[in-house]
Amino acid sequence: MTNSTAITYPTVQHNTERQGLFIVFEGIDGTGKTSQITRLASFLKTSGHDVLTTREPSDGPFGKRLRSLFYNRKEISKDEELQLFLDDRKDHLQQIILPALKKGTTVLCDRYFLSTIAYQGATGHFTIEELLARNNFAPEPDIALLLTAPVAICIERITRGRKEKPNDFEQRAFLEKTDAIFTALEFPWLKRIDCSGSMETVEQEIQRHIRPLLQQNDKKREQN
Ligand code: TYD
Repeated sequence: MTNSTAITYPTVQHNTERQGLFIVFEGIDGTGKTSQITRLASFLKTSGHDVLTTREPSDGPFGKRLRSLFYNRKEISKDEELQLFLDDRKDHLQQIILPALKKGTTVLCDRYFLSTIAYQGATGHFTIEELLARNNFAPEPDIALLLTAPVAICIERITRGRKEKPNDFEQRAFLEKTDAIFTALEFPWLKRIDCSGSMETVEQEIQRHIRPLLQQNDKKREQN
Protein backbone atom coordinates (compact mmCIF):
# COMPACT_ATOMS: atom_id res chain seq x y z
CA MET A 1 0.00 0.00 0.00
CA THR A 2 1.38 3.41 -0.93
CA ASN A 3 -0.28 6.74 -0.48
CA SER A 4 0.61 10.35 -1.14
CA THR A 5 1.14 11.14 2.55
CA ALA A 6 3.45 8.17 3.12
CA ILE A 7 6.44 8.81 5.38
CA THR A 8 9.57 7.15 4.14
CA TYR A 9 13.26 7.12 4.94
CA PRO A 10 16.29 8.14 2.92
CA THR A 11 18.19 4.85 2.85
CA VAL A 12 21.58 4.94 4.49
CA GLN A 13 23.78 1.97 3.68
CA HIS A 14 25.34 0.81 6.94
CA ASN A 15 28.13 -1.67 6.72
CA THR A 16 27.24 -3.79 9.72
CA GLU A 17 28.76 -7.20 8.84
CA ARG A 18 25.54 -8.99 9.65
CA GLN A 19 25.26 -12.77 9.72
CA GLY A 20 22.08 -13.00 11.74
CA LEU A 21 18.67 -11.56 10.90
CA PHE A 22 17.59 -8.35 12.59
CA ILE A 23 13.85 -8.56 13.26
CA VAL A 24 12.05 -5.62 14.85
CA PHE A 25 8.55 -5.46 16.33
CA GLU A 26 6.67 -2.19 16.32
CA GLY A 27 3.20 -0.97 17.20
CA ILE A 28 1.28 1.06 19.72
CA ASP A 29 1.02 -0.21 23.26
CA GLY A 30 -1.47 -3.03 23.75
CA THR A 31 -0.91 -4.68 20.37
CA GLY A 32 0.53 -7.79 22.02
CA LYS A 33 4.10 -7.36 20.71
CA THR A 34 5.75 -8.81 23.75
CA SER A 35 3.72 -12.07 23.67
CA GLN A 36 4.36 -12.48 19.95
CA ILE A 37 8.09 -11.96 20.41
CA THR A 38 8.14 -14.74 23.00
CA ARG A 39 6.28 -17.03 20.58
CA LEU A 40 8.56 -16.22 17.65
CA ALA A 41 11.66 -16.72 19.82
CA SER A 42 10.54 -20.21 20.79
CA PHE A 43 9.67 -21.09 17.17
CA LEU A 44 13.13 -19.97 16.06
CA LYS A 45 14.92 -21.84 18.85
CA THR A 46 12.99 -25.01 18.02
CA SER A 47 14.12 -24.69 14.42
CA GLY A 48 17.75 -24.53 15.54
CA HIS A 49 18.52 -20.80 15.49
CA ASP A 50 20.44 -18.81 18.08
CA VAL A 51 18.11 -16.09 19.26
CA LEU A 52 18.52 -12.92 21.27
CA THR A 53 15.41 -11.12 22.50
CA THR A 54 15.91 -7.51 23.45
CA ARG A 55 13.98 -4.25 23.71
CA GLU A 56 14.05 -0.48 23.58
CA PRO A 57 14.25 1.37 25.84
CA SER A 58 17.05 -1.10 26.55
CA ASP A 59 18.32 -2.40 29.87
CA GLY A 60 21.45 -0.24 29.54
CA PRO A 61 22.04 2.99 31.51
CA PHE A 62 20.06 5.32 29.20
CA GLY A 63 17.19 2.86 28.90
CA LYS A 64 16.97 2.47 32.67
CA ARG A 65 16.81 6.23 33.06
CA LEU A 66 14.02 6.41 30.45
CA ARG A 67 11.98 3.72 32.15
CA SER A 68 12.34 5.46 35.51
CA LEU A 69 10.83 8.59 33.89
CA PHE A 70 7.81 6.85 32.33
CA TYR A 71 5.31 7.90 34.96
CA ASN A 72 6.60 11.45 35.18
CA ARG A 73 7.84 12.64 31.82
CA LYS A 74 7.50 16.25 32.93
CA GLU A 75 10.76 15.93 34.86
CA ILE A 76 12.70 16.36 31.63
CA SER A 77 12.13 18.35 28.47
CA LYS A 78 11.04 16.71 25.21
CA ASP A 79 14.48 17.47 23.75
CA GLU A 80 16.25 15.77 26.63
CA GLU A 81 13.91 12.83 26.37
CA LEU A 82 14.53 12.43 22.62
CA GLN A 83 18.27 12.62 23.27
CA LEU A 84 17.95 9.81 25.82
CA PHE A 85 16.08 7.58 23.32
CA LEU A 86 18.83 8.23 20.74
CA ASP A 87 21.69 7.67 23.21
CA ASP A 88 20.00 4.49 24.35
CA ARG A 89 19.66 3.27 20.75
CA LYS A 90 23.35 3.96 19.96
CA ASP A 91 24.47 2.20 23.10
CA HIS A 92 22.10 -0.73 22.52
CA LEU A 93 23.33 -1.16 18.92
CA GLN A 94 27.00 -1.04 19.92
CA GLN A 95 26.80 -3.17 23.05
CA ILE A 96 24.12 -5.72 22.21
CA ILE A 97 22.55 -5.76 18.74
CA LEU A 98 25.50 -5.46 16.34
CA PRO A 99 27.80 -7.92 18.17
CA ALA A 100 24.98 -10.51 18.21
CA LEU A 101 24.20 -10.06 14.50
CA LYS A 102 27.89 -10.32 13.68
CA LYS A 103 28.16 -13.75 15.25
CA GLY A 104 25.04 -15.02 13.49
CA THR A 105 22.43 -14.66 16.19
CA THR A 106 18.88 -13.75 15.14
CA VAL A 107 17.96 -10.60 17.03
CA LEU A 108 14.33 -9.91 17.98
CA CYS A 109 13.95 -6.34 19.15
CA ASP A 110 10.81 -5.00 20.85
CA ARG A 111 10.70 -1.45 19.37
CA TYR A 112 13.36 0.40 17.41
CA PHE A 113 13.61 3.72 15.60
CA LEU A 114 10.09 3.71 14.12
CA SER A 115 8.84 4.03 17.72
CA THR A 116 10.76 7.29 18.02
CA ILE A 117 9.25 8.55 14.77
CA ALA A 118 5.73 7.68 15.93
CA TYR A 119 5.87 8.47 19.67
CA GLN A 120 8.15 11.51 19.71
CA GLY A 121 6.44 12.64 16.48
CA ALA A 122 3.08 12.47 18.29
CA THR A 123 4.26 14.99 20.90
CA GLY A 124 4.08 17.61 18.12
CA HIS A 125 7.44 18.92 19.26
CA PHE A 126 9.52 17.55 16.37
CA THR A 127 8.97 17.22 12.65
CA ILE A 128 9.01 13.72 11.22
CA GLU A 129 11.92 14.73 8.93
CA GLU A 130 13.95 15.81 11.95
CA LEU A 131 13.26 12.56 13.77
CA LEU A 132 14.22 10.51 10.71
CA ALA A 133 17.43 12.50 10.30
CA ARG A 134 18.38 12.13 13.97
CA ASN A 135 17.99 8.36 13.61
CA ASN A 136 20.09 7.94 10.51
CA PHE A 137 22.90 6.31 12.51
CA ALA A 138 20.58 3.32 13.04
CA PRO A 139 20.89 0.49 10.49
CA GLU A 140 17.68 -0.65 8.89
CA PRO A 141 16.33 -3.95 10.20
CA ASP A 142 15.85 -6.92 7.84
CA ILE A 143 12.17 -6.72 8.66
CA ALA A 144 9.98 -4.63 10.95
CA LEU A 145 6.66 -6.24 11.86
CA LEU A 146 4.17 -3.51 12.65
CA LEU A 147 1.35 -4.98 14.73
CA THR A 148 -1.88 -3.12 14.08
CA ALA A 149 -5.27 -3.05 15.82
CA PRO A 150 -7.87 -0.34 16.49
CA VAL A 151 -6.72 2.01 19.27
CA ALA A 152 -9.83 1.19 21.35
CA ILE A 153 -8.87 -2.51 21.42
CA CYS A 154 -5.30 -1.64 22.43
CA ILE A 155 -6.45 0.59 25.31
CA GLU A 156 -8.80 -2.12 26.50
CA ARG A 157 -5.91 -4.60 26.47
CA ILE A 158 -3.66 -2.19 28.39
CA THR A 159 -6.18 -1.34 31.08
CA ARG A 160 -8.15 -4.57 31.48
CA GLY A 161 -5.78 -7.25 30.28
CA ARG A 162 -2.71 -6.02 32.14
CA LYS A 163 -4.69 -4.39 34.99
CA GLU A 164 -2.33 -1.45 34.66
CA LYS A 165 -2.91 2.25 34.57
CA PRO A 166 -1.78 3.58 31.16
CA ASN A 167 1.53 5.47 31.45
CA ASP A 168 2.00 8.92 29.87
CA PHE A 169 2.75 7.34 26.48
CA GLU A 170 -0.45 5.33 26.58
CA GLN A 171 -3.17 8.00 26.97
CA ARG A 172 -5.87 7.68 24.30
CA ALA A 173 -5.39 10.96 22.37
CA PHE A 174 -1.65 10.44 22.34
CA LEU A 175 -1.95 6.83 21.16
CA GLU A 176 -4.27 7.96 18.36
CA LYS A 177 -1.62 10.39 17.10
CA THR A 178 1.04 7.72 17.41
CA ASP A 179 -1.15 5.28 15.51
CA ALA A 180 -1.71 7.83 12.71
CA ILE A 181 2.05 8.19 12.24
CA PHE A 182 2.61 4.43 12.24
CA THR A 183 -0.18 4.17 9.65
CA ALA A 184 1.59 6.63 7.33
CA LEU A 185 4.97 4.87 7.43
CA GLU A 186 6.12 3.09 4.27
CA PHE A 187 9.40 1.20 3.91
CA PRO A 188 10.25 -1.85 1.83
CA TRP A 189 11.15 -3.76 5.00
CA LEU A 190 8.03 -2.74 6.97
CA LYS A 191 5.22 -5.33 7.08
CA ARG A 192 1.86 -4.81 8.73
CA ILE A 193 0.25 -7.57 10.75
CA ASP A 194 -3.35 -7.26 11.87
CA CYS A 195 -3.27 -8.32 15.51
CA SER A 196 -6.94 -7.96 16.39
CA GLY A 197 -7.44 -11.72 15.84
CA SER A 198 -6.36 -14.61 18.05
CA MET A 199 -2.78 -15.01 19.29
CA GLU A 200 -2.45 -18.17 17.15
CA THR A 201 -3.59 -16.43 13.95
CA VAL A 202 -1.15 -13.57 14.52
CA GLU A 203 1.66 -16.02 15.34
CA GLN A 204 1.07 -17.89 12.05
CA GLU A 205 1.00 -14.67 10.07
CA ILE A 206 4.31 -13.57 11.61
CA GLN A 207 5.93 -16.93 10.78
CA ARG A 208 4.67 -16.62 7.21
CA HIS A 209 6.72 -13.43 6.85
CA ILE A 210 9.80 -14.72 8.67
CA ARG A 211 10.23 -18.18 7.07
CA PRO A 212 11.39 -17.01 3.62
CA LEU A 213 13.85 -14.55 5.20
CA LEU A 214 15.32 -17.29 7.37
CA GLN A 215 15.70 -19.61 4.38
CA GLN A 216 17.42 -16.89 2.36
CA ASN A 217 19.72 -16.01 5.22
CA ASP A 218 20.60 -19.64 6.03
CA LYS A 219 21.43 -20.22 2.35
CA LYS A 220 23.59 -17.11 2.20
CA ARG A 221 25.52 -18.24 5.25
CA GLU A 222 26.08 -21.75 3.84
CA GLN A 223 27.57 -20.22 0.71
CA ASN A 224 30.04 -18.02 2.66
P1 TYD B 1 7.05 -0.68 25.89
O1 TYD B 1 7.58 -1.58 24.84
O2 TYD B 1 5.59 -0.44 25.94
O3 TYD B 1 7.59 -1.13 27.30
P2 TYD B 1 6.84 -1.98 28.43
O4 TYD B 1 6.00 -3.00 27.69
O5 TYD B 1 7.97 -2.55 29.20
O6 TYD B 1 6.00 -0.97 29.19
O7 TYD B 1 7.82 0.71 25.63
C1 TYD B 1 7.82 1.68 26.57
C2 TYD B 1 7.30 3.00 26.07
O8 TYD B 1 8.37 3.75 25.47
C3 TYD B 1 6.22 2.89 25.03
O9 TYD B 1 5.02 3.47 25.55
C4 TYD B 1 6.72 3.70 23.86
C5 TYD B 1 7.86 4.50 24.40
N1 TYD B 1 8.94 4.74 23.40
C6 TYD B 1 9.08 6.00 22.83
O10 TYD B 1 8.31 6.92 23.14
N2 TYD B 1 10.09 6.23 21.94
C7 TYD B 1 10.97 5.26 21.58
O11 TYD B 1 11.89 5.51 20.76
C8 TYD B 1 10.81 3.95 22.17
C9 TYD B 1 11.78 2.85 21.80
C10 TYD B 1 9.79 3.73 23.07
